[in-house]
Amino acid sequence: MNVLNKKTIEDIDVAGKRVLVRCDFNVPLKNGVITSDERIVATLPTIEYLIGKGAKIILCAHFGRPAGTGYEEAFSLAPVAKYLAGLLNKGVKMATDIVGESAKKLASELKDGDVMLLENVRFDKRETKNDPEFSKQLASLAEIYVDDAFGSAHRAHSSTAGVADFLPAVCGYLIQKEIKYIGGALENPKRPFVAILGGAKVSDKIGVINNLIDKVDTLIIGGGMAYTFFAAKGYGTGTSLCETDKITLAKEMMAKAEAKGVALLLPIDNKVGKEYAADTEVKIVNSDEIPADWMGLDIGPKSQALFADAIKGSGTVIWNGPMGVSEWDNFASGTIAVAKAVADSGAVSIIGGGDSVAAVQKLGFADKMSHISTGGGASLEFMEGIELPGIAALNDK
Ligand code: 3PG
Repeated sequence: MNVLNKKTIEDIDVAGKRVLVRCDFNVPLKNGVITSDERIVATLPTIEYLIGKGAKIILCAHFGRPAGTGYEEAFSLAPVAKYLAGLLNKGVKMATDIVGESAKKLASELKDGDVMLLENVRFDKRETKNDPEFSKQLASLAEIYVDDAFGSAHRAHSSTAGVADFLPAVCGYLIQKEIKYIGGALENPKRPFVAILGGAKVSDKIGVINNLIDKVDTLIIGGGMAYTFFAAKGYGTGTSLCETDKITLAKEMMAKAEAKGVALLLPIDNKVGKEYAADTEVKIVNSDEIPADWMGLDIGPKSQALFADAIKGSGTVIWNGPMGVSEWDNFASGTIAVAKAVADSGAVSIIGGGDSVAAVQKLGFADKMSHISTGGGASLEFMEGIELPGIAALNDK
């Protein structure tokens, strides 16, 4: 599959047509209040384009993981409809069901440029089973399917994939942008291509390391996962996170990088702490000198300089996972240094995955990056080279 060759909303005539748009409205909600509107804001270009073209817009999405046995107030998308109406400054009609009487009635009454939202598609258990009958019922509400739910593109469900069997299927601007940046980097990166991988566990990133090692010029490994690599090099890791069952794999990855001529950079020094606590006693030690009763919680200043140097002058950077326990100020400097280096590099910069996105935003570097992915699991699987059902289902140009 060539992900760069998928049809977009600009390749199809939507004027006056009923368009079913799958969004990822799986937003954090506390006591009925949306605490981050990022995913809603990210769909605005598509929705506004469709309004401008006079389409009749039927939005659908999932929210959380309800039982699939019908309506549950805690998982209703009604707060999203209200919020979206505020952003669009126009009414968003909320259906009380997905493919039932309420949805059908509202869909048939839509005028050009009107917007409605179906209830949580996961209230029906057929959604996650990608049940063809349910996909067909969803499709029957509309004449065109637009998928803009990148965060759910790794799910082969009725509203993310199955519905495309019954309607012309194109992507919205959000998926188009994710494909352009992540897909573009994987298929045809501007070189040198540098990948920075961090986060706690090697086991979460095996697939990504494996896929990227075949594509990048430099692979930087920081965060908790670096300690398993230290163990593979025969260093003591003290009480740091170390996945002993992944040491052989770390050795294989290092050998693979060497065989392919990929520069694999590990931290050369570390900020270690006495215990896993924000205010614990700290010191800086070289990577082969971590004392037995100390744990690595961030990369050290020499590593920051080493990594920044590797990032400088790169053509493309993909970054997934913080360099240390970046939510604690005491252990955020490694992640800040890398964020700054990426921001200053002038490279095509792509931030994928939940934790690194949160770090970049909290540290104020978000607007310096070329692309911040809206997908957690989806962007990881994309970087692993796994075909995403939500993208595969779309029509080719
Ligand atoms: C997400 O928040 O990662 C997506 O919306 C997918 O949600 P899911 O993991 O419940 O399928």
